[in-house]
Amino acid sequence: MRRVDRWLLASHASALRHGSPLLVDLGFGAAPVTTVELFERVRALNPRARVTGLEIDPERVREASRAAREGLSFAHGGFEVPTAERPAVIRLFNVLRQYQEADVPEIWERLTSRLAPGGLVVEGTCDELGRRAAWVGLDASGPRTLTLATQLASLEAPSDLAERLPKALIHRNVPGERVHALFKAMDAEWAASTAVAPFGLRQRWRFMAARLKAAGWAVLDDDHRWRQGELTFAWEAVAP
Ligand SMILES: C[S@@+](CC[C@H](N)C(=O)[O-])C[C@H]1O[C@@H](n2cnc3c(N)ncnc32)[C@H](O)[C@@H]1O
Repeated sequence: MRRVDRWLLASHASALRHGSPLLVDLGFGAAPVTTVELFERVRALNPRARVTGLEIDPERVREASRAAREGLSFAHGGFEVPTAERPAVIRLFNVLRQYQEADVPEIWERLTSRLAPGGLVVEGTCDELGRRAAWVGLDASGPRTLTLATQLASLEAPSDLAERLPKALIHRNVPGERVHALFKAMDAEWAASTAVAPFGLRQRWRFMAARLKAAGWAVLDDDHRWRQGELTFAWEAVAP
């Protein structure tokens, strides 16, 4: 979650630095650890930012409330995020797994309709150790980006990340779909990067990213993020 938080704070920094923005962590889980971490990270950027953790499970809300403090609260709730105060960010991680692919567009739409002007929804998944993650960034107009993020030391090939794709894409990693073509292209460039392998995995990832961009893939970020084992694409590059 450190990676997604870092990404969302960087990509949304101008909106989060000003005023007292509200961030929602939807479906925070059995313990509010990731909610507290998000709170601490955004507070380092803006001491007036606030975070609310929402959960559909009332028992989890009761337990989590013990971690509440000024600026950090927990409440019972779901995709119908309250609009009394519209959030600048809604983050939901490892929540839509339990839902059907066909449900995703409506859930996305419901969430983006709750946002403050210029707001951002981040919906994705990661593995238990946080080594691999993938998330979709959405604004009021719908999905805008797909970000892949990995700990490079444990990576055999970029397509290892396919198992962490968000619900909207995980069943689409099959021939004929864009996301499948993307993973094939990433694996091919990764294999072609053996010449820079002696300089380390970071160099291999950067080499791959630069070659994908040069080949016309809609890579949106730059070397600064590639160094961290991340890569963001325009949604159109992977849309089913
Ligand atoms: C696997 S946990 C994820 C916890 C945490 N976000 C993480 O990534 O570690 C999924 C959580 O989502 C909650 N959940 C599922 N559907 C939800 C909904 N519609 N609204 C709010 N929470 C929901 C479940 O109760 C569960 O606690």
